[in-house]
Amino acid sequence: MNNKDIKNVGIIGLGYVGLPLLYTFHQAGLKVIGFDVDASKIEAINSGKTYIKHFSDIQIKELSESERCAVTTDFQLLKDVDSILICVPTPLDHHREPDMSYVVKTTEVIGDHLQEGQLVVLESTTYPGTTDELLKSILENKSGLREGEDFFIAYSPEREDPGNEHFNTKTIPKVVGSSTQRGRELAVSLYEKALDHVVPVSSAKVAESAKLLENIFRSVNIALVNEMKLVMDAMEIDIHEVINAAATKPFGFMKFTPGPGLGGHCIPIDPFYLTWKAREYGLNTRFIELAGEVNGAMPEFVINKTMLALNEMGKAVKNSRILILGIAYKPNVDDMRESPSFVIMDKLQTLGAEIEFYDPWIPIIPSSREHMNWKGKVSVEWKESIIKDFDAVVIVTDHKAVNYDELKNWADCIIDTRNVYSELTKTDKKKIFKA
Ligand SMILES: NC(=O)c1ccc[n+]([C@@H]2O[C@H](COP(=O)([O-])OP(=O)(O)OC[C@H]3O[C@@H](n4cnc5c(N)ncnc54)[C@H](O)[C@@H]3O)[C@@H](O)[C@H]2O)c1
Repeated sequence: MNNKDIKNVGIIGLGYVGLPLLYTFHQAGLKVIGFDVDASKIEAINSGKTYIKHFSDIQIKELSESERCAVTTDFQLLKDVDSILICVPTPLDHHREPDMSYVVKTTEVIGDHLQEGQLVVLESTTYPGTTDELLKSILENKSGLREGEDFFIAYSPEREDPGNEHFNTKTIPKVVGSSTQRGRELAVSLYEKALDHVVPVSSAKVAESAKLLENIFRSVNIALVNEMKLVMDAMEIDIHEVINAAATKPFGFMKFTPGPGLGGHCIPIDPFYLTWKAREYGLNTRFIELAGEVNGAMPEFVINKTMLALNEMGKAVKNSRILILGIAYKPNVDDMRESPSFVIMDKLQTLGAEIEFYDPWIPIIPSSREHMNWKGKVSVEWKESIIKDFDAVVIVTDHKAVNYDELKNWADCIIDTRNVYSELTKTDKKKIFKA
Protein backbone atom coordinates (compact mmCIF):
# COMPACT_ATOMS: atom_id res chain seq x y z
CA MET A 1 0.00 0.00 0.00
CA ASN A 2 1.49 3.41 -0.86
CA ASN A 3 0.52 6.73 0.72
CA LYS A 4 -2.16 7.44 -1.83
CA ASP A 5 -3.89 4.16 -1.13
CA ILE A 6 -5.76 5.12 2.06
CA LYS A 7 -9.22 5.80 0.74
CA ASN A 8 -11.35 4.65 3.62
CA VAL A 9 -11.34 4.81 7.38
CA GLY A 10 -12.95 2.72 10.09
CA ILE A 11 -13.58 4.53 13.37
CA ILE A 12 -14.26 2.48 16.50
CA GLY A 13 -16.20 4.22 19.30
CA LEU A 14 -18.72 6.82 18.13
CA GLY A 15 -18.84 9.01 21.24
CA TYR A 16 -17.78 12.62 21.84
CA VAL A 17 -14.51 12.00 19.98
CA GLY A 18 -15.29 9.34 17.36
CA LEU A 19 -18.48 10.84 15.93
CA PRO A 20 -17.00 14.26 15.00
CA LEU A 21 -13.93 12.45 13.65
CA LEU A 22 -16.11 10.24 11.43
CA TYR A 23 -17.87 13.36 10.18
CA THR A 24 -14.59 15.18 9.47
CA PHE A 25 -13.13 12.32 7.40
CA HIS A 26 -16.42 11.98 5.55
CA GLN A 27 -16.46 15.69 4.76
CA ALA A 28 -12.95 15.32 3.33
CA GLY A 29 -14.34 12.87 0.75
CA LEU A 30 -13.20 9.59 2.28
CA LYS A 31 -15.34 6.50 2.63
CA VAL A 32 -16.01 5.96 6.34
CA ILE A 33 -17.35 3.13 8.47
CA GLY A 34 -18.24 3.81 12.10
CA PHE A 35 -18.23 0.97 14.63
CA ASP A 36 -19.73 0.89 18.11
CA VAL A 37 -20.88 -1.81 20.54
CA ASP A 38 -23.77 0.46 21.56
CA ALA A 39 -26.58 -0.42 19.13
CA SER A 40 -28.64 2.59 20.25
CA LYS A 41 -25.99 4.95 18.79
CA ILE A 42 -26.01 3.07 15.47
CA GLU A 43 -29.83 3.24 15.38
CA ALA A 44 -29.76 6.95 16.20
CA ILE A 45 -27.33 7.74 13.37
CA ASN A 46 -29.23 5.60 10.89
CA SER A 47 -32.46 7.39 11.77
CA GLY A 48 -30.82 10.83 11.46
CA LYS A 49 -30.98 11.72 15.17
CA THR A 50 -28.12 13.15 17.16
CA TYR A 51 -27.18 12.07 20.70
CA ILE A 52 -24.58 14.79 21.35
CA LYS A 53 -25.73 18.35 21.95
CA HIS A 54 -23.10 20.15 19.87
CA PHE A 55 -23.42 17.71 16.96
CA SER A 56 -26.56 18.58 14.97
CA ASP A 57 -29.26 16.41 13.39
CA ILE A 58 -28.26 18.00 10.09
CA GLN A 59 -24.70 16.69 10.44
CA ILE A 60 -26.01 13.24 11.40
CA LYS A 61 -28.29 13.21 8.34
CA GLU A 62 -25.30 14.06 6.12
CA LEU A 63 -23.80 10.81 7.39
CA SER A 64 -26.93 8.65 7.35
CA GLU A 65 -27.89 9.71 3.81
CA SER A 66 -24.42 9.31 2.34
CA GLU A 67 -23.34 6.36 0.25
CA ARG A 68 -19.79 6.90 1.55
CA CYS A 69 -20.79 6.30 5.16
CA ALA A 70 -21.93 3.21 7.04
CA VAL A 71 -22.28 2.66 10.78
CA THR A 72 -22.51 -0.77 12.32
CA THR A 73 -22.07 -3.09 15.29
CA ASP A 74 -20.68 -5.72 12.90
CA PHE A 75 -16.90 -5.73 13.36
CA GLN A 76 -16.41 -8.13 10.42
CA LEU A 77 -16.54 -5.01 8.26
CA LEU A 78 -13.15 -4.00 9.70
CA LYS A 79 -11.75 -6.11 6.87
CA ASP A 80 -13.05 -3.57 4.35
CA VAL A 81 -11.07 -0.52 5.53
CA ASP A 82 -7.44 0.58 4.99
CA SER A 83 -7.11 2.32 8.34
CA ILE A 84 -8.70 1.86 11.76
CA LEU A 85 -8.88 4.62 14.40
CA ILE A 86 -9.66 3.63 18.01
CA CYS A 87 -11.69 6.16 20.05
CA VAL A 88 -12.96 4.10 22.99
CA PRO A 89 -13.05 5.19 26.67
CA THR A 90 -9.98 5.10 28.95
CA PRO A 91 -11.41 5.76 32.45
CA LEU A 92 -9.93 4.94 35.85
CA ASP A 93 -11.07 1.86 37.75
CA HIS A 94 -12.30 1.80 41.37
CA HIS A 95 -8.69 1.93 42.62
CA ARG A 96 -8.07 4.99 40.40
CA GLU A 97 -5.80 3.00 38.13
CA PRO A 98 -6.04 2.88 34.30
CA ASP A 99 -8.97 0.82 33.08
CA MET A 100 -7.63 -0.48 29.76
CA SER A 101 -10.44 -2.99 29.27
CA TYR A 102 -12.12 -1.01 26.44
CA VAL A 103 -8.84 -0.61 24.54
CA VAL A 104 -7.91 -4.26 25.09
CA LYS A 105 -11.31 -5.59 23.94
CA THR A 106 -11.30 -3.36 20.87
CA THR A 107 -7.73 -4.31 19.93
CA GLU A 108 -8.56 -8.01 20.29
CA VAL A 109 -11.48 -7.61 17.89
CA ILE A 110 -9.26 -5.73 15.42
CA GLY A 111 -6.66 -8.50 15.76
CA ASP A 112 -9.30 -11.07 14.79
CA HIS A 113 -9.97 -9.23 11.52
CA LEU A 114 -6.60 -7.62 10.78
CA GLN A 115 -5.56 -7.49 7.11
CA GLU A 116 -2.13 -7.06 5.55
CA GLY A 117 -1.27 -3.43 4.91
CA GLN A 118 -3.79 -2.01 7.41
CA LEU A 119 -2.92 0.96 9.61
CA VAL A 120 -4.25 0.98 13.21
CA VAL A 121 -4.14 4.28 15.13
CA LEU A 122 -5.00 4.61 18.81
CA GLU A 123 -6.59 7.96 19.68
CA SER A 124 -7.77 7.26 23.24
CA THR A 125 -5.77 9.07 25.93
CA THR A 126 -3.37 6.69 27.63
CA TYR A 127 0.03 6.09 29.28
CA PRO A 128 3.28 6.16 27.25
CA GLY A 129 3.98 2.73 25.81
CA THR A 130 0.37 1.60 25.24
CA THR A 131 0.68 1.59 21.44
CA ASP A 132 4.13 -0.03 21.19
CA GLU A 133 3.61 -2.52 24.01
CA LEU A 134 -0.07 -3.37 24.50
CA LEU A 135 -1.53 -2.71 21.03
CA LYS A 136 1.35 -4.25 19.14
CA SER A 137 1.45 -7.48 21.15
CA ILE A 138 -2.32 -8.06 21.04
CA LEU A 139 -2.50 -7.41 17.29
CA GLU A 140 0.51 -9.62 16.50
CA ASN A 141 -0.66 -12.46 18.75
CA LYS A 142 -4.22 -12.43 17.44
CA SER A 143 -3.42 -12.06 13.74
CA GLY A 144 -0.07 -13.80 13.33
CA LEU A 145 1.04 -10.77 11.28
CA ARG A 146 4.16 -8.64 12.03
CA GLU A 147 3.94 -4.97 12.97
CA GLY A 148 6.12 -2.73 10.78
CA GLU A 149 6.11 -5.31 7.99
CA ASP A 150 2.57 -6.65 7.49
CA PHE A 151 0.62 -3.94 9.29
CA PHE A 152 1.36 -0.56 10.91
CA ILE A 153 0.47 1.18 14.16
CA ALA A 154 0.51 4.80 15.32
CA TYR A 155 -0.79 7.00 18.11
CA SER A 156 -2.58 10.30 17.60
CA PRO A 157 -4.08 11.98 20.66
CA GLU A 158 -7.53 13.44 20.44
CA ARG A 159 -7.82 17.11 21.41
CA GLU A 160 -11.57 17.45 20.90
CA ASP A 161 -13.02 20.29 22.99
CA PRO A 162 -16.82 19.97 22.91
CA GLY A 163 -18.58 23.31 22.84
CA ASN A 164 -15.46 25.27 21.76
CA GLU A 165 -16.67 27.93 19.32
CA HIS A 166 -13.19 28.69 17.94
CA PHE A 167 -11.79 25.24 17.14
CA ASN A 168 -13.17 21.98 15.78
CA THR A 169 -11.83 18.55 14.83
CA LYS A 170 -10.61 19.84 11.45
CA THR A 171 -8.80 22.94 12.71
CA ILE A 172 -7.18 21.61 15.90
CA PRO A 173 -3.57 20.60 15.08
CA LYS A 174 -3.12 16.83 15.28
CA VAL A 175 0.02 15.25 16.75
CA VAL A 176 0.87 11.90 15.13
CA GLY A 177 3.60 9.51 16.29
CA SER A 178 4.75 6.08 15.26
CA SER A 179 7.89 4.15 15.99
CA THR A 180 8.29 3.01 12.39
CA GLN A 181 8.85 5.42 9.55
CA ARG A 182 6.25 3.65 7.41
CA GLY A 183 3.65 3.78 10.18
CA ARG A 184 4.29 7.50 10.62
CA GLU A 185 4.11 8.22 6.87
CA LEU A 186 0.84 6.35 6.52
CA ALA A 187 -0.73 7.99 9.56
CA VAL A 188 0.42 11.49 8.57
CA SER A 189 -0.88 11.06 5.03
CA LEU A 190 -4.21 9.81 6.37
CA TYR A 191 -4.78 12.75 8.72
CA GLU A 192 -3.54 15.26 6.14
CA LYS A 193 -6.45 14.25 3.92
CA ALA A 194 -8.96 15.62 6.43
CA LEU A 195 -7.26 17.95 8.93
CA ASP A 196 -5.64 21.36 8.51
CA HIS A 197 -2.46 20.81 10.56
CA VAL A 198 -0.67 17.53 11.23
CA VAL A 199 2.33 17.49 13.58
CA PRO A 200 4.50 14.39 13.13
CA VAL A 201 6.61 13.26 16.11
CA SER A 202 9.28 10.57 16.29
CA SER A 203 7.36 7.90 18.21
CA ALA A 204 4.00 6.84 19.59
CA LYS A 205 5.42 7.32 23.10
CA VAL A 206 6.18 11.01 22.43
CA ALA A 207 2.62 11.53 21.13
CA GLU A 208 1.11 9.68 24.14
CA SER A 209 3.23 11.74 26.55
CA ALA A 210 2.43 15.05 24.82
CA LYS A 211 -1.29 14.50 25.39
CA LEU A 212 -0.70 13.74 29.07
CA LEU A 213 1.50 16.83 29.48
CA GLU A 214 -1.27 19.02 28.03
CA ASN A 215 -3.81 17.74 30.53
CA ILE A 216 -1.42 17.65 33.49
CA PHE A 217 -0.57 21.29 32.70
CA ARG A 218 -4.24 22.18 32.96
CA SER A 219 -4.82 20.16 36.12
CA VAL A 220 -1.82 21.68 37.92
CA ASN A 221 -2.67 25.25 36.91
CA ILE A 222 -6.32 24.86 37.85
CA ALA A 223 -5.18 23.51 41.23
CA LEU A 224 -2.95 26.57 41.64
CA VAL A 225 -5.81 29.04 41.10
CA ASN A 226 -8.11 26.91 43.25
CA GLU A 227 -5.58 27.08 46.08
CA MET A 228 -5.23 30.83 45.53
CA LYS A 229 -9.02 31.08 45.75
CA LEU A 230 -9.06 29.50 49.22
CA VAL A 231 -6.37 31.89 50.46
CA MET A 232 -7.96 34.97 48.84
CA ASP A 233 -11.34 34.02 50.26
CA ALA A 234 -9.92 33.91 53.80
CA MET A 235 -8.30 37.32 53.19
CA GLU A 236 -11.54 38.71 51.70
CA ILE A 237 -9.81 39.49 48.40
CA ASP A 238 -11.71 38.85 45.16
CA ILE A 239 -9.73 36.08 43.38
CA HIS A 240 -11.31 36.90 40.01
CA GLU A 241 -10.22 40.51 40.18
CA VAL A 242 -6.72 39.28 41.11
CA ILE A 243 -6.60 36.88 38.15
CA ASN A 244 -7.88 39.50 35.71
CA ALA A 245 -5.24 41.95 36.94
CA ALA A 246 -2.46 39.35 36.58
CA ALA A 247 -3.73 38.45 33.10
CA THR A 248 -2.96 41.96 31.84
CA LYS A 249 0.71 40.89 31.81
CA PRO A 250 1.30 40.25 28.10
CA PHE A 251 3.87 37.49 28.60
CA GLY A 252 4.68 34.73 31.10
CA PHE A 253 1.15 34.39 32.49
CA MET A 254 -1.76 32.31 31.30
CA LYS A 255 -5.23 32.75 32.73
CA PHE A 256 -6.87 29.83 34.54
CA THR A 257 -10.18 30.11 36.37
CA PRO A 258 -10.99 28.53 39.73
CA GLY A 259 -14.17 26.52 40.15
CA PRO A 260 -16.11 23.97 42.21
CA GLY A 261 -13.75 21.11 41.28
CA LEU A 262 -12.60 19.29 38.18
CA GLY A 263 -14.91 17.44 35.83
CA GLY A 264 -15.04 15.74 32.46
CA HIS A 265 -13.55 12.65 30.97
CA CYS A 266 -10.02 14.10 30.66
CA ILE A 267 -8.49 16.45 33.24
CA PRO A 268 -9.45 14.58 36.45
CA ILE A 269 -8.42 11.23 34.94
CA ASP A 270 -5.62 11.41 32.37
CA PRO A 271 -2.82 12.64 34.70
CA PHE A 272 -3.18 9.46 36.76
CA TYR A 273 -2.32 7.36 33.72
CA LEU A 274 1.19 8.81 33.99
CA THR A 275 1.25 8.39 37.78
CA TRP A 276 0.50 4.69 37.30
CA LYS A 277 3.15 4.17 34.60
CA ALA A 278 5.77 6.22 36.51
CA ARG A 279 5.51 3.76 39.43
CA GLU A 280 6.97 1.09 37.15
CA TYR A 281 10.13 3.27 37.08
CA GLY A 282 10.10 3.83 40.87
CA LEU A 283 9.02 7.46 40.42
CA ASN A 284 6.35 9.49 42.18
CA THR A 285 4.44 12.19 40.30
CA ARG A 286 4.10 14.67 43.16
CA PHE A 287 2.69 17.61 41.15
CA ILE A 288 -0.03 15.37 39.72
CA GLU A 289 -0.97 13.95 43.13
CA LEU A 290 -0.99 17.38 44.77
CA ALA A 291 -3.09 18.92 41.99
CA GLY A 292 -5.52 16.00 42.32
CA GLU A 293 -5.71 16.56 46.07
CA VAL A 294 -6.31 20.33 45.81
CA ASN A 295 -8.85 20.04 42.98
CA GLY A 296 -10.55 17.09 44.68
CA ALA A 297 -11.09 19.18 47.84
CA MET A 298 -12.97 21.98 46.05
CA PRO A 299 -16.46 20.46 46.35
CA GLU A 300 -15.91 20.39 50.13
CA PHE A 301 -15.24 24.15 50.05
CA VAL A 302 -18.53 24.66 48.17
CA ILE A 303 -20.39 22.56 50.74
CA ASN A 304 -18.93 24.58 53.63
CA LYS A 305 -19.90 27.82 51.88
CA THR A 306 -23.42 26.46 51.36
CA MET A 307 -23.67 25.64 55.08
CA LEU A 308 -22.47 29.14 56.00
CA ALA A 309 -24.86 30.76 53.53
CA LEU A 310 -27.81 28.82 54.93
CA ASN A 311 -26.63 29.75 58.41
CA GLU A 312 -26.87 33.43 57.42
CA MET A 313 -30.50 32.71 56.52
CA GLY A 314 -31.03 31.12 59.94
CA LYS A 315 -31.31 27.66 58.40
CA ALA A 316 -29.51 24.33 58.65
CA VAL A 317 -28.57 22.10 55.73
CA LYS A 318 -30.73 19.36 57.24
CA ASN A 319 -34.21 19.53 55.73
CA SER A 320 -33.29 22.49 53.49
CA ARG A 321 -34.37 22.28 49.87
CA ILE A 322 -31.28 22.89 47.74
CA LEU A 323 -31.21 23.37 43.96
CA ILE A 324 -28.03 22.44 42.09
CA LEU A 325 -27.81 24.66 39.04
CA GLY A 326 -25.96 22.76 36.30
CA ILE A 327 -24.83 19.15 36.44
CA ALA A 328 -22.76 19.19 33.22
CA TYR A 329 -19.05 19.34 34.07
CA LYS A 330 -18.61 22.58 32.08
CA PRO A 331 -20.88 25.24 30.60
CA ASN A 332 -22.93 24.72 27.44
CA VAL A 333 -22.35 20.97 27.08
CA ASP A 334 -24.51 17.96 27.93
CA ASP A 335 -21.63 15.86 29.31
CA MET A 336 -21.86 15.11 33.05
CA ARG A 337 -18.95 12.67 33.37
CA GLU A 338 -16.93 13.24 36.57
CA SER A 339 -18.94 16.39 37.24
CA PRO A 340 -18.30 17.91 40.70
CA SER A 341 -22.07 18.53 40.91
CA PHE A 342 -22.55 14.90 41.91
CA VAL A 343 -20.01 15.05 44.74
CA ILE A 344 -21.77 18.17 46.04
CA MET A 345 -25.23 16.59 45.65
CA ASP A 346 -24.17 13.38 47.42
CA LYS A 347 -22.62 15.21 50.35
CA LEU A 348 -25.48 17.67 50.84
CA GLN A 349 -27.97 14.82 50.67
CA THR A 350 -25.98 12.89 53.29
CA LEU A 351 -26.20 15.99 55.50
CA GLY A 352 -30.01 15.78 55.24
CA ALA A 353 -30.78 18.26 52.46
CA GLU A 354 -33.46 17.63 49.88
CA ILE A 355 -31.71 17.92 46.48
CA GLU A 356 -33.12 18.90 43.11
CA PHE A 357 -31.28 20.07 40.01
CA TYR A 358 -31.80 22.28 36.99
CA ASP A 359 -29.80 21.83 33.80
CA PRO A 360 -31.07 23.14 30.45
CA TRP A 361 -28.99 20.52 28.58
CA ILE A 362 -29.55 17.48 30.77
CA PRO A 363 -33.31 17.13 31.35
CA ILE A 364 -32.92 13.70 32.94
CA ILE A 365 -29.87 12.06 34.49
CA PRO A 366 -28.93 9.19 32.17
CA SER A 367 -27.39 5.86 33.03
CA SER A 368 -23.59 6.13 33.32
CA ARG A 369 -20.60 4.37 34.82
CA GLU A 370 -20.93 6.50 37.98
CA HIS A 371 -23.68 8.27 39.95
CA MET A 372 -26.21 5.50 39.44
CA ASN A 373 -27.94 6.73 42.64
CA TRP A 374 -29.13 9.80 40.66
CA LYS A 375 -30.13 7.93 37.48
CA GLY A 376 -33.56 8.93 36.16
CA LYS A 377 -33.81 12.11 38.26
CA VAL A 378 -35.54 14.84 36.26
CA SER A 379 -34.50 18.51 36.07
CA VAL A 380 -36.97 20.92 37.71
CA GLU A 381 -38.71 23.46 35.50
CA TRP A 382 -37.33 27.00 35.20
CA LYS A 383 -40.27 28.86 36.72
CA GLU A 384 -40.44 31.54 39.39
CA SER A 385 -42.85 29.56 41.58
CA ILE A 386 -40.50 26.57 41.51
CA ILE A 387 -37.14 28.35 41.93
CA LYS A 388 -38.49 30.59 44.71
CA ASP A 389 -39.33 27.53 46.74
CA PHE A 390 -35.69 26.50 47.37
CA ASP A 391 -33.80 27.48 50.49
CA ALA A 392 -30.58 27.76 48.49
CA VAL A 393 -29.42 27.57 44.86
CA VAL A 394 -25.84 26.43 44.20
CA ILE A 395 -24.51 27.52 40.78
CA VAL A 396 -22.09 24.73 39.86
CA THR A 397 -22.15 25.06 36.04
CA ASP A 398 -22.59 28.49 34.45
CA HIS A 399 -24.55 27.54 31.32
CA LYS A 400 -25.18 30.55 29.06
CA ALA A 401 -28.77 29.43 28.53
CA VAL A 402 -29.71 30.26 32.15
CA ASN A 403 -31.22 33.68 32.92
CA TYR A 404 -29.18 34.78 35.95
CA ASP A 405 -31.11 38.04 36.36
CA GLU A 406 -34.27 36.00 36.86
CA LEU A 407 -32.43 33.76 39.29
CA LYS A 408 -31.28 36.76 41.31
CA ASN A 409 -34.84 38.07 41.49
CA TRP A 410 -36.39 34.73 42.37
CA ALA A 411 -33.94 33.08 44.79
CA ASP A 412 -33.32 34.09 48.42
CA CYS A 413 -29.90 32.50 48.78
CA ILE A 414 -27.41 31.83 45.95
CA ILE A 415 -24.01 30.15 46.24
CA ASP A 416 -21.98 31.23 43.20
CA THR A 417 -19.01 28.97 42.43
CA ARG A 418 -18.43 30.42 38.93
CA ASN A 419 -18.36 34.17 39.49
CA VAL A 420 -21.58 34.59 37.53
CA TYR A 421 -22.29 37.69 39.60
CA SER A 422 -18.95 39.43 39.30
CA GLU A 423 -19.95 42.66 40.99
CA LEU A 424 -22.08 42.57 44.11
CA THR A 425 -23.84 45.49 45.79
CA LYS A 426 -24.31 45.59 49.57
CA THR A 427 -27.84 44.25 49.13
CA ASP A 428 -26.63 41.49 46.78
CA LYS A 429 -24.09 40.39 49.37
CA LYS A 430 -26.93 39.55 51.75
CA LYS A 431 -28.09 36.76 49.47
CA ILE A 432 -25.29 35.94 47.02
CA PHE A 433 -22.28 34.11 48.43
CA LYS A 434 -19.12 33.45 46.42
CA ALA A 435 -17.71 29.94 46.75
N1 LIG B 1 -14.62 13.79 25.29
C1 LIG B 1 -13.60 14.58 25.05
O1 LIG B 1 -13.75 15.77 24.98
C2 LIG B 1 -12.21 14.01 24.82
C3 LIG B 1 -11.19 14.89 24.47
C4 LIG B 1 -9.91 14.39 24.23
C5 LIG B 1 -9.67 13.04 24.39
N2 LIG B 1 -10.66 12.17 24.76
C6 LIG B 1 -10.34 10.75 24.87
O2 LIG B 1 -10.95 10.05 23.78
C7 LIG B 1 -11.36 8.75 24.20
C8 LIG B 1 -12.86 8.56 23.93
O3 LIG B 1 -13.57 9.50 24.72
P1 LIG B 1 -15.08 9.92 24.40
O4 LIG B 1 -15.33 11.14 25.20
O5 LIG B 1 -15.35 9.93 22.96
O6 LIG B 1 -15.83 8.68 25.05
P2 LIG B 1 -17.39 8.29 24.87
O7 LIG B 1 -17.75 7.48 26.06
O8 LIG B 1 -18.19 9.51 24.51
O9 LIG B 1 -17.37 7.36 23.57
C9 LIG B 1 -16.77 6.12 23.53
C10 LIG B 1 -17.59 5.22 22.62
O10 LIG B 1 -16.91 3.96 22.53
C11 LIG B 1 -17.88 2.94 22.53
N3 LIG B 1 -17.25 1.69 22.93
C12 LIG B 1 -16.92 1.27 24.17
N4 LIG B 1 -16.34 0.05 24.10
C13 LIG B 1 -16.28 -0.28 22.80
C14 LIG B 1 -15.80 -1.41 22.10
N5 LIG B 1 -15.22 -2.43 22.75
N6 LIG B 1 -15.92 -1.43 20.75
C15 LIG B 1 -16.50 -0.40 20.10
N7 LIG B 1 -16.99 0.70 20.71
C16 LIG B 1 -16.87 0.76 22.04
C17 LIG B 1 -18.95 3.43 23.48
O11 LIG B 1 -20.19 2.79 23.25
C18 LIG B 1 -18.99 4.92 23.13
O12 LIG B 1 -19.92 5.20 22.10
C19 LIG B 1 -10.97 8.64 25.67
O13 LIG B 1 -9.71 8.06 25.77
C20 LIG B 1 -10.89 10.10 26.11
O14 LIG B 1 -10.00 10.27 27.20
C21 LIG B 1 -11.93 12.64 24.97
